[in-house]
Amino acid sequence: MCGIIGVVGRTDTLETLLQGLSRLEYRGYDSAGVALSGPGTTWRARAAAGTESVAALRAECVDAPRGFRTGLGHTRWATHGAPEALNAHPHLDCSGSVAIIHNGIIENHAEIREDLVGRGHVFTSVTDSEVLAHLIEEARKAGEDLSEAVRTSLLRVRGAFALAVLDATEPDVIVAARRISPLIVGTAPGVSYLASDVPAILDQAKTFYAVEDDQVVRLGPEGFRALDLEGAPVRLRQLSIDWDLETAEKGGFEDFMAKEIAEQPEALRATLLDRHRRDGAISFDEMGVSDEELRAVKRVVLVAAGTSNHAAQVAKYAIERWARVSVEVDISSEYRYRDPIVEVGTLVIGVSQSGETIDTIQATREAKRRGARVLAVTNIVDSSLAREADAVIYTRAGLEVSVASTKAFVAQVAALELFALRLAQLRATMPERDVEALYRGLQAVGAQVERALSRREEVAEVARALFGARDFFYLGRHVGFPTALEGALKLKELTYLHAEGYPAGELKHGPLALIEPGVVVVAVATDPAMHEKILSNLAEVKARGASVVVVATDDDESIAAVADFVLRVPGTEPLFAPMVDIIPLQLFAYLTARALGRNVDRPRNLAKTVTVE
Ligand code: F6R
Repeated sequence: MCGIIGVVGRTDTLETLLQGLSRLEYRGYDSAGVALSGPGTTWRARAAAGTESVAALRAECVDAPRGFRTGLGHTRWATHGAPEALNAHPHLDCSGSVAIIHNGIIENHAEIREDLVGRGHVFTSVTDSEVLAHLIEEARKAGEDLSEAVRTSLLRVRGAFALAVLDATEPDVIVAARRISPLIVGTAPGVSYLASDVPAILDQAKTFYAVEDDQVVRLGPEGFRALDLEGAPVRLRQLSIDWDLETAEKGGFEDFMAKEIAEQPEALRATLLDRHRRDGAISFDEMGVSDEELRAVKRVVLVAAGTSNHAAQVAKYAIERWARVSVEVDISSEYRYRDPIVEVGTLVIGVSQSGETIDTIQATREAKRRGARVLAVTNIVDSSLAREADAVIYTRAGLEVSVASTKAFVAQVAALELFALRLAQLRATMPERDVEALYRGLQAVGAQVERALSRREEVAEVARALFGARDFFYLGRHVGFPTALEGALKLKELTYLHAEGYPAGELKHGPLALIEPGVVVVAVATDPAMHEKILSNLAEVKARGASVVVVATDDDESIAAVADFVLRVPGTEPLFAPMVDIIPLQLFAYLTARALGRNVDRPRNLAKTVTVE
């Protein structure tokens, strides 16, 4: 996710921006830029040097004008367009006077761009964001002041934005606005600030305010005024922030893992934004495989490791159900050593949060060598996997710092299920209205995840009650099985306790011998079609003395008969359920690990990115 900083009213504006951008580097980024405005002039510098971009930007700023009091800075995490300097923010309008920085995605950028190009505007990047600079330019030409121009321009856009704008013809002013993507305002005597995240301005601002959805704020040295999108005045909510830098980087959470667990609704929304055309077709701008090629797919092979493999296993059920293509899922470290069969029409999908896991890269290389088309599903733009694949779909979960993967999992499931729906559309394996209903259902999962997250205290109670247990079996059927695998992986890597995931029906073929008093069985039982069978599996383990924890939907009244503890979740379409059902399991692992005094962000023996075979 991009980082934003703005300042108006200081004489050392550039240095304030560069320091603020350094403090945003921890969020991950691939390029950076600043714009300064003084009377009649806007000056801009940008650099794309990966994680060295702020240092490279500083070098670009040696000739910056001095004494300009208004400025914007941006760290970019690429979504539309490669991580190159020309796509880095700030973006300028045709006159070079208006500069904008943007975090989010403008869903209808293509149609707006076409219209603006038709009216003579010249675009210099391939980003969705640049349309905002030209829309504001049009409104300014029509005589609107800067805040009015921003407000009316935003009435034309769909999508998510934290936006900040300056214009040299109206110096000492920044106008900012927000929908979905976070934005805060800060003040100190004679200076106003804005930022996407507290660390950027923590040591500068004295008082902090939250900008809410669809609010526009005009900042000057003397303070700010806020409006809603209809132009009516609004008051911003003051925030009480007494954090040190470390707490601020974690967004006020105890650790990165808690922050990333909480970010899952946003990760889902960002991943699903801008994937639906006006004609109803699901589309992935960045993908790069033609519809004809997708129609011709005869077999899909998903290769991935760890959590990404569990997301891939969920996707298998969705692709087979909706698109009627046969799907295999392989552990990426196994794939290349088993002399895999690649026939004409084989699509191999490499799934990797980092895009740098060597096992997954090697598996996709092997598949390519044997003639497969390769699609990468990854969170990191221009990662090795993305570069080497024929096509790519980006999850937009933002940087994951905690070693154990959380938000990447839900974003991967969402992206892969969206891909499954696209495949179904192209192969006409489902009525269009069913695809549309599923697409809408997928959009609603973010809110269901939010509800599941709000039940942390209920999960904490169960974690407290089971504190001291050492053996855990996680069971599930259908997509509940990969959810169980993922729940078990979270528990073992965070707590170092013994946890295994099993298909619930497989238990009686061996592992049942291990069930005895003291063992905990955690079952995922949210799918009505699997419910009865899971219940009878649980009766078997309960009869042998295990403690039984069940993830069950809010309306499930029969579960209390077999469960010692119930973790309630909102019901959803069964194929979407892994994204919701994993929430209490992540929280359970997290809370147990904290109670055990583990370092949840950095479990022993593990690395975030595994680049050795
Ligand atoms: C588990 C975890 C790992 C990764 C695995 C693959 O919490 O984080 O199992 O999922 O190392 O990593 P990526 O997705 O980067 O290929």
